[in-house]
Amino acid sequence: MPSSPASGPDAGLIDLRSDTVTRPDAEMRQAMAGAVVGDDAYGEDPTVRQLEEESAAALGCAAAVFVPSGTMGNQIALHLHGGRGREVICDARSHIIELELGAMAALSGLLPRALVTADGRLGAEAVEAAIAPDVAYRTRTCLIVVENTHNLAGGTVYDRQQLAALVAVARHHRLPIHLDGARIWNAAAALGEPPAALAGGFDSVMFCLSKGLGAPVGSLLCGRRDFIAEARRVRKMFGGGMRQAGVLAAAGLVALRRGPSRLPEDHANAALLARAAAELPGIELDPAAVRTNIVVFRVTPAALGGEISAAALASPADAFLSRLRGLGVLGSAASRDQVRLVTHRDAPRPRIEEAVRCLQRMAVDPAPRGSLPASAGV
Ligand SMILES: Cc1ncc(COP(=O)(O)O)c(C=O)c1O
Repeated sequence: MPSSPASGPDAGLIDLRSDTVTRPDAEMRQAMAGAVVGDDAYGEDPTVRQLEEESAAALGCAAAVFVPSGTMGNQIALHLHGGRGREVICDARSHIIELELGAMAALSGLLPRALVTADGRLGAEAVEAAIAPDVAYRTRTCLIVVENTHNLAGGTVYDRQQLAALVAVARHHRLPIHLDGARIWNAAAALGEPPAALAGGFDSVMFCLSKGLGAPVGSLLCGRRDFIAEARRVRKMFGGGMRQAGVLAAAGLVALRRGPSRLPEDHANAALLARAAAELPGIELDPAAVRTNIVVFRVTPAALGGEISAAALASPADAFLSRLRGLGVLGSAASRDQVRLVTHRDAPRPRIEEAVRCLQRMAVDPAPRGSLPASAGV
């Protein structure tokens, strides 16, 4: 199984930038080649329909629509739940704020009401307090968005009680609540619960096939039947209507049916990496907090052997990543001083053990190597 960039200067490195870097395996490619397809704009692609039905059932929803990306799934949901000039309550480091390029404002005229949290998880009380009172001079709240697992906070997982409390707040205030469940399958694996149990009460749920589940492309937006019928219209408006998309859905079906069972392996690999990283001088990380496939840690100057170059000061994370890359491992920056490593199907245990050895060498080999990494997509 490949575990490094296929070509280019980074070929051969252990690629832990994201779980999106996996390439379709033989079973997926075979399914894609043999997919029965039709024009999905006419609702005539049986493989897409099959994927939508199985996805909706897995999430406990009435219907689902296949979309090209998680970003599009989130943005369709925000567009439908929202209203121009209204506020969306979400965590300050959520994907919809940090990594969707202002789409909620650009496409739907929405403003984020960003709540600062310790680990990406919104508390019901804080959300309750952030809901605008119904007075003529306050911007209206239109939606609550929950991200589970939370990407930039290090794959943190909500438990069912926390989710139920948030859903209760939404119901009490008659507000819709959307789940950015790009990695809801990781959350489900970490808790030993079916994903439907974590999606209960939400008005819409987006999950990705293209992350830990290992498909090359695609996400699903799930919800009530009438909501998904409208979502199909907005998907088209946003340019996401696809035609013979069954070739993609076929790989998605393999990912959906087979992908979840191997996620615990990614979680164990992340725990191994986290323990190794936490041993390094100058790294701030509680390995016990790493429960899924994302490891995020803070890099202090001590981790760079006291290097005080302009580059290290500008971004300790990039300086650390540059050295790590010189030792054979690619990661990404979660912020100026936070590094993120993500485990996935194409980095099996022997490669993770190699990555651990590279991390251990960071402690004894503080000399800068390689060039600063190009910023990686997250
Ligand atoms: C939490 C979360 N939501 C949404 C997305 C967006 O998915 P995509 O990259 O398919 O647009 C990501 C991607 O990493 C994510 O981590």
